[in-house]
Amino acid sequence: MKDSVRVLLRIAGSSFLLICLLGGQNVFAQDKTVKDGVFTEAQVASGQIVYDSQCKTCHNMQFYRDTLRSWNNQPLLWLWESIMGTMPADNPGSLMLEEYTDVIAYILSENGFPTGDNELDPDNGMEQISILPP
Ligand code: HEC
Repeated sequence: MKDSVRVLLRIAGSSFLLICLLGGQNVFAQDKTVKDGVFTEAQVASGQIVYDSQCKTCHNMQFYRDTLRSWNNQPLLWLWESIMGTMPADNPGSLMLEEYTDVIAYILSENGFPTGDNELDPDNGMEQISILPP
């Protein structure tokens, strides 16, 4: 009898610990959003040049607006990875990593999100930035 109580307590204890760990991680994952000035003015300017030559022919801005809507709450890094892996559709992965980042800055800016002091950087915290619908 005593033993089974002890086992139950132990299970309860470790579940509690697990819930704390998972809960803590969630708080970190939702650190920032695209509203928090997560890209610079310079990135937007470079991004526009890439966009006009590489992305404009097949999609209009409404398409990107709908894309942001459908990616609501997902990490910005995942969209970056998806675009890098599949776009431009006629030559995926053909741009430099920086150009993919700049294009995202431009698309976000065109959809009303503000510039800030920190560069958008896929190696630095982009997983903690959530996408919001425009
Ligand atoms: C040759 C045509 C073409 C070009 C150029 C092109 N795309 Fe696409 N793109 C497509 C097609 C086709 C799809 C998939 C079908 C769809 O969703 O309309 C797509 C899908 C997408 C999606 C949706 C991804 C998703 O999972 O929601 C995004 C975002 C995107 N493209 C961004 C870009 C960007 C940024 C560029 C420029 C670097 C670009 N595309 C250049 C044809 C193109």
